[in-house]
Amino acid sequence: VSDIVFLNGAFVARDRALVPVDDRGFLFGDGVYEVVRLVAGRYVDGDRHRDRLARSLAELRLEGGIEDGTALLDIGLDLLARNRIGVGGQALVYLQVTRGVARRRHAFPPAGTPPTVFVAASGFVPQRDLMETGVAAVTHPDLRWHRCDIKSVNLLPNVLANQKATEQGAYEAILVRDGVVTEGTRSNVFAVVDGVLRTHPTGPAILPGVTRAVVVELAREAGLHVEERAFSAAELAKAAEVFATGTTTDVTPVVAVDGRAVGSGQPGPVARRLGALLTARMTSLPD
Ligand SMILES: Cc1ncc(COP(=O)(O)O)c(C=O)c1O
Repeated sequence: VSDIVFLNGAFVARDRALVPVDDRGFLFGDGVYEVVRLVAGRYVDGDRHRDRLARSLAELRLEGGIEDGTALLDIGLDLLARNRIGVGGQALVYLQVTRGVARRRHAFPPAGTPPTVFVAASGFVPQRDLMETGVAAVTHPDLRWHRCDIKSVNLLPNVLANQKATEQGAYEAILVRDGVVTEGTRSNVFAVVDGVLRTHPTGPAILPGVTRAVVVELAREAGLHVEERAFSAAELAKAAEVFATGTTTDVTPVVAVDGRAVGSGQPGPVARRLGALLTARMTSLPD
């Protein structure tokens, strides 16, 4: 049986949740999304995801007529119940808003055109095995636009780079722009270079990952030397450790890049420690 999703004010079976061909998400990729994790029936950093969604919407000037992010997160909770996704396990809620349905024309549709609002929920099992063993990654040119800070549904360069990684048996493609590592196709990337934990600073070149921000905080609290300073592909190649972070990725050690071992070829102490701290935090978040 199909699960229940929310589309434009109604709860419907997923296979009946259809979007018209004139939806601007379909025609132009004119929309934004969020993915939020739940542990024990509670959102992990729901406020940060809600704020990022609000920011993405504002950057696209896509504000009119949308329930605010809190309402969308509440719909996600409703979906967990409707789909009988137990609070014992973990879950993901997917939120997407597009600029609605209108005959194809690049400029915005007439004022008052309602956005398309879609929310879905699913059970989720973290890939602990990958966090234990580490994963392979490949480098790939970052072919994206100059507003990667907006979580838009325009993911074509991410799709193409991730497919390249998949074809090479790798978990993630690490994107490189002008010799500098920006992030992954669906994760932020950290490296330990000369004893310093580094990751690309926020700004238009990367998505400001919620997990990235939390991991930076945890690393500082743990007394690690962290710098939000970009590193080059050459520094990546000689890093002692590399890891990816994300809502579904947690802290996943990268033990090989482009077929060459990172450090010892095993998950390193920094990734292990931060992974453990992140997991502990997730299961002990206050209400
Ligand atoms: C391009 C990109 N970078 C980073 C991330 C990680 O962000 P977060 O930790 O908020 O899930 C994602 C997650 O989807 C992503 O798509």
